[in-house]
Amino acid sequence: MKVLILGSGGREHALAWKLAQSPRVHSLFCAPGNGGISEIAQCVPIKIGEHDQLVAFAKNEKIDLTVVGPDDALAAGIVDRFQTEGLTIFGPTQAAAKLESSKVFAKEFMQRHGIPTARFGHFSSSQEARKFARSMSVPLVVKADGLALGKGVIIAQTHEEADEAISAIMDERRFGDAGNAVVLEEFLEGPECSIHALVDGSHYLLFPSAQDHKRALDQDQGLNTGGMGTYSPTPQLTPTLEQTVRTEVLERFLSGLQSDGIHYRGMLFPGLILTTSGPKVLEFNCRFGDPETQVLLSRLESDLLDLLESTINGELASQKPIWKTGSAVCVIMASGGYPESYETGKPIIGLSKVAETALVFHAGTRREGNSYLTSGGRVLGVTATGPDLQTARNRAYQAVSEISFERAHFRTDIAAKGLQGN
Ligand code: AMP
Ligand code: GLY
Repeated sequence: MKVLILGSGGREHALAWKLAQSPRVHSLFCAPGNGGISEIAQCVPIKIGEHDQLVAFAKNEKIDLTVVGPDDALAAGIVDRFQTEGLTIFGPTQAAAKLESSKVFAKEFMQRHGIPTARFGHFSSSQEARKFARSMSVPLVVKADGLALGKGVIIAQTHEEADEAISAIMDERRFGDAGNAVVLEEFLEGPECSIHALVDGSHYLLFPSAQDHKRALDQDQGLNTGGMGTYSPTPQLTPTLEQTVRTEVLERFLSGLQSDGIHYRGMLFPGLILTTSGPKVLEFNCRFGDPETQVLLSRLESDLLDLLESTINGELASQKPIWKTGSAVCVIMASGGYPESYETGKPIIGLSKVAETALVFHAGTRREGNSYLTSGGRVLGVTATGPDLQTARNRAYQAVSEISFERAHFRTDIAAKGLQGN
């Protein structure tokens, strides 16, 4: 089969790495890809927003399957377009992906179908929003309705901070049209957990759990980022809590789709907080997480292609994937300054030293001959597996210590919470 992956991050490198191992994949392409992906797939210089060019490429090359990485491609309707053209593509349609691209839509879906989530209000007037915020206790959470690269969520410690956040989102339009409406939400306490489940419309297939580290600095300090590191599984999601997630989140999600007439086929990745009164959904993502995918796929023994095809064909019930026992840890090495401004073009040293001990998934890199240069905020996802979390973590950090580039920044506490069990 000929497979095309859309995107250019570490998630897409992990998808490419795993799909390249499928005996049924004989040609692999990635648009636009990155330095690391170019080692295993043919990178095509088409941006994910260029739908006409992507369709023309897929038709010319007779691509059998296209796999979408990022949320904005789904929100822009790439899946609908490919389907209209008679091309097979993995991911939910634009209407279904609204569960990620509109927080108001997602919260109303959860409320309608009894999926546990934080209490909330939503507003399209900043004045009304400010009035409601005053009636809430602090801290409270202010969220732009639309996609804002993970930056549209502000935890306000005081009512004044909430006012400022509402003004920034709705009046100053810091995130553009994503700020047409806001969601105000109660602040939830507890460990975070990323759940991934393939959904084929009538069945779901749960992947192992993972935990991301969203803040830029150790001890969850600093700004929110796309994610600074992950580990899997998370001991905090006990078998009892996992069963609650199945019945209260995934089964209600499926029956909600049916009663609302939403056709959802693709990956569903709910972000959860495990509160003392049970797991609550923070948000739905309609795609693979980044960097959750790096740890999940490093643990998947089975053929990913089979799983993706079964999702598209409504045959997930027949799939029983095998996962490596033990753990995986991914530490993101980022450009100094990320998620604010940073420099690029720095040579990356030491990759060959870790080729045997770690999987290095590239995010913001480009290749020049046989060398790699930084080209983005998140640069590498250094990933290792092991028989237990401590071993996987030691291996990942050992590999990180062998790799360098000017002003490289990484957190030193990835997976520490998993070892402490909180
Ligand atoms: P989201 O994009 O909705 O997942 O929010 C980004 C991050 O903000 C989450 O990963 C949490 O760390 C935090 N967050 C969002 N909503 C809440 C909430 N209701 N209570 C506590 N933290 C939250
Ligand atoms: N790692 C969080 C996300 O992909 O949204």
